[in-house]
Amino acid sequence: MVTSKAALVAGLTLAGQAAAALQPIVMKGTKFFYENGTQFYIKGIAYQQDTTGAGGETTTGTFKDPLADADACKRDVPIMKAAGTNAIRTYAIDPTKDHSACMKLLDDAGIYVISDLSEPAKSINRDDPRWDVTLFKRYTSVIDELSKYDNVIGFFAGNEVSNNATNTKASAYVKAAVRDSKKYIKDNVKRWMGVGYAANDDPNIRAEIAHYFNCGDQDQAIDFWGYNIYEWCGESSIKKSGYQDQIDFFSNYSVPVFFAEYGCNEPGGAEGRIFQETTALYNEKVMTDVFSGGIVYMYFQEENDYGLVKVSGNDAKTLKNYDKLKTAVLGAKPETVDMDSYTPDNEPAECPDVTKNWQVTGKALPPTPDESLCECMFNSLTCVPDKNLKAEEYGDIFGTVCGNDKDACAGILGDPSTGVYGAYAMCNAKQQLGYVMDQYYKNQKYASHACSFNGAASPNGSGKADASCSAALKSADAANAVAATATAGSGNGGTDGGDAAAATSSSFASPVAMKSFFSVADMAVGLYVVVAMGVGAGMVML
Ligand SMILES: *[C@@H]1O[C@H](CO)[C@@H](O)[C@H](O)[C@H]1NC(C)=O
Ligand SMILES: *[C@@H]1O[C@H](CO)[C@@H](O)[C@H](O)[C@H]1NC(C)=O
Ligand SMILES: *[C@@H]1O[C@H](CO)[C@@H](O)[C@H](O)[C@H]1NC(C)=O
Ligand SMILES: *[C@@H]1O[C@H](CO)[C@@H](O)[C@H](O)[C@H]1NC(C)=O
Repeated sequence: MVTSKAALVAGLTLAGQAAAALQPIVMKGTKFFYENGTQFYIKGIAYQQDTTGAGGETTTGTFKDPLADADACKRDVPIMKAAGTNAIRTYAIDPTKDHSACMKLLDDAGIYVISDLSEPAKSINRDDPRWDVTLFKRYTSVIDELSKYDNVIGFFAGNEVSNNATNTKASAYVKAAVRDSKKYIKDNVKRWMGVGYAANDDPNIRAEIAHYFNCGDQDQAIDFWGYNIYEWCGESSIKKSGYQDQIDFFSNYSVPVFFAEYGCNEPGGAEGRIFQETTALYNEKVMTDVFSGGIVYMYFQEENDYGLVKVSGNDAKTLKNYDKLKTAVLGAKPETVDMDSYTPDNEPAECPDVTKNWQVTGKALPPTPDESLCECMFNSLTCVPDKNLKAEEYGDIFGTVCGNDKDACAGILGDPSTGVYGAYAMCNAKQQLGYVMDQYYKNQKYASHACSFNGAASPNGSGKADASCSAALKSADAANAVAATATAGSGNGGTDGGDAAAATSSSFASPVAMKSFFSVADMAVGLYVVVAMGVGAGMVML
């Protein structure tokens, strides 16, 4: 057999194309495009069983990876394709599993993927928000796994995390996750992939949260805004549904906006859906000018009654509302612009002011998780937690230490409303516990009773750090001194140590009891003064 070089090259090219038939999607201004410059609208379906979307919460922390089940993908991808679907949203994948079979089936069907980075047990908790080493590892492992596939558009760093005015502080941690995930992609992936946020629609924080994620340094801001929106129910109109207000609001937003979930099931449950809003979304110029399509919630018909398809075993039966959606999507004729002839002119928003309803300053973000710094710190402690200490016991100790010696805790606390963050706010709970024990011990001048905590800790020699750690530890110390000064900047505050300990220890319930941090931090809010805590965040990242 004679193999010419040309044939070989042709063969290779074909093989290359077979592995990645779809062109990556790129972003310009407020719109998505195929690499060839044709505008791309998302015609999506949410694809995950037992999802945590639509306000639902899993209580078990378990999930089924929808991209790791090749048989299910073989069954479902053709059904989605037949309805004109060009994207799916997945909420939780397991990065240790093999996704190649599903990703190939999707690619061959012309379907892109947008995935959430979290999973139920590793996500930013709106009530006990953190952005730490463990979460960052989870996020980067998903990026590593999915960036292998050209048909991945990007990720959500959070889904409905701050969902009303009572939990806005959590948004600071989500935005820190956006910043760090974007940087990770920039440093490790050769093509563009976006990092966005999926929000519910709460009237009290609607404007603030959308502006917050879009404002400031664009390396820290979202690439796209996903709206989970269930406003248009049954027969309605752009005006009546409230879509007009969204058009007005987002018409000057600077990045793409799309519906990250939609498909109101009232009246009549899933089967009552007629998907008039789908037609409006793609065929009304007022909509396509502002929105880049949407993702219908959802493929699987489950207890919450939002499904397009009833699956039992290997059998998938499309429902009536699937036919309605199919008709609407196949009838979609959105107007497109060409990338080259499109000049974006919207500017990023101003960061919102800190108000009663919005407790997050745009001036500083929580620090970037840095595992080696946390390890350096932990290995240098002179007072260390007992190896057998259980995570459930941490909360009481945090409460006692931080209640009695606020300075000891300045290095692990964060306050989104002032932007004051300790350098070790991003370490894991055990490292943080060691840190506060050690600080307390030092502040007590190494008194023999001060490193016991009822047997939970013991002294560990001189605490010599590895030489390679010393510069990083020094700048963390400096940042923490700033945080501590800020904490102690005012003598009032209305809580002396004893009260704080008593008041917080009763609320230590969750395994790692991070809530206690915030009880303490919240009480200390009045004590904090605004300092340019960029210092703290910046110095740690040496
Ligand atoms: C770009 O690619 C898309 C998707 O394959 C295709 O529909 C479109 O016609 C192409 N545009 C041009 C200008 O070739
Ligand atoms: C805010 O959201 C939380 C979590 O979903 C909920 O428990 C709480 O009742 C809500 N509060 C208000 C005022 O809506
Ligand atoms: C859009 O315009 C509104 C009303 O003028 C304004 O409040 C908002 O800040 C603007 N948003 C951006 C992103 O410029
Ligand atoms: C405790 O001391 C040992 C021996 O000096 C050292 O190897 C270790 O890193 C120290 N820290 C911890 C947390 O055990």
